[in-house]
Amino acid sequence: EKGGYDSFMEKEIHEQPAAVRDTLMGRLDENGNLTLDDMKIDDAILRSIDKIIVVACGTAAYAGQVARYAIEHWCRIPTEVELAHEFRYRDPIVNEKTLVVSLSQSGETMDTLMAVRHAQEQGAKVVSICNTNGSTLPRESDAVLYTHAGPEIAVASTKAFLSQITAAYLLGLYLAQLRGNMFKDEIKTILAELQEMPEKIQKLIDNEQQVKDLGTSMKDADSVLFLGRHVGFPVALEGALKLKEIAYIHAEGFAAGELKHGPIALIEEGQPVFIVVPSPNGRDSLHSKVVSNIQEVRARGAVTIVIAEEGDEAVKAYSDHLITIPASPSLLQPLLSTVPLQVFACALAAAKGYDVDQPRNLAKSVTVE
Ligand code: M6R
Repeated sequence: EKGGYDSFMEKEIHEQPAAVRDTLMGRLDENGNLTLDDMKIDDAILRSIDKIIVVACGTAAYAGQVARYAIEHWCRIPTEVELAHEFRYRDPIVNEKTLVVSLSQSGETMDTLMAVRHAQEQGAKVVSICNTNGSTLPRESDAVLYTHAGPEIAVASTKAFLSQITAAYLLGLYLAQLRGNMFKDEIKTILAELQEMPEKIQKLIDNEQQVKDLGTSMKDADSVLFLGRHVGFPVALEGALKLKEIAYIHAEGFAAGELKHGPIALIEEGQPVFIVVPSPNGRDSLHSKVVSNIQEVRARGAVTIVIAEEGDEAVKAYSDHLITIPASPSLLQPLLSTVPLQVFACALAAAKGYDVDQPRNLAKSVTVE
């Protein structure tokens, strides 16, 4: 049932091209309009919302953080992302003009469910992005957008994460279409770019041996840090979570811009640091800022493991290990940059002899608060 792989996690990492492809499938109607699975909220209401709050836990919350960059950019709707268990208890400002988006693989996460109920009590409409048909979250929501990743067995989420990001992008584009923030052609262009992602993910998987070897060689590390900026920041957080969950190694993700505000004090000789580098063709000066961060940590003795676009010459001189990913539009990069981090954690945990599918102390679905 593991399809020849050593673990479900490995199998599910390999299923990611299909998971993203299936989540994107059949989304345009005969008029070229984007459609979603089960949108039971009136267009008038969706046009009137003035705030989006994404609620989720763990990996799903990191998918939400990635989504925020895209939704705000495309829809110009202020978007917050909050851990579901924190949301409920801070007396959030929610009303009929708030759209709450829940993200959940299982659809049964109690913390997320409670956040959704809390929001509905205050008049908010809820869209759930979920991987499990007929589970509690979609049943209780006003609209549903299913991720079509197929069942995820390993406790550490992989393919659900990439599908959640994909589905959240679709929701963002749908709202932009409905509210007139984008022209049909612009949406079509982004959809076409999204359609190219499965092939690019496949390319990363075909070349995974380098990352596996790196994971195995680092099995004795006792701390690994991850840096990222913009959409690379939640990717860094996700890379750290994977390592904590299955390899039981101290791991932390930071916003690269935060380095000099504290975390750089952690850097000492031999400290492994992953750096997720934005596209050199992206907006602003993000790329050069992150390249400076690589130099800064390396000058203090860090072993740098750099994830950068193919052909990015600027990073070469400062990379102890260079992992290249295919070029992509900046906002879509997490669908690629996450994959080596998953492969790394899985290989490292396996090299330590751990059961990567059933990590200690964790359950696949957290149905208690
Ligand atoms: O089923 P959900 O997506 O609601 O689960 C949320 C988290 O419990 C989940 O993502 C958890 O963090 C995973 N173990 C991450 O690998």
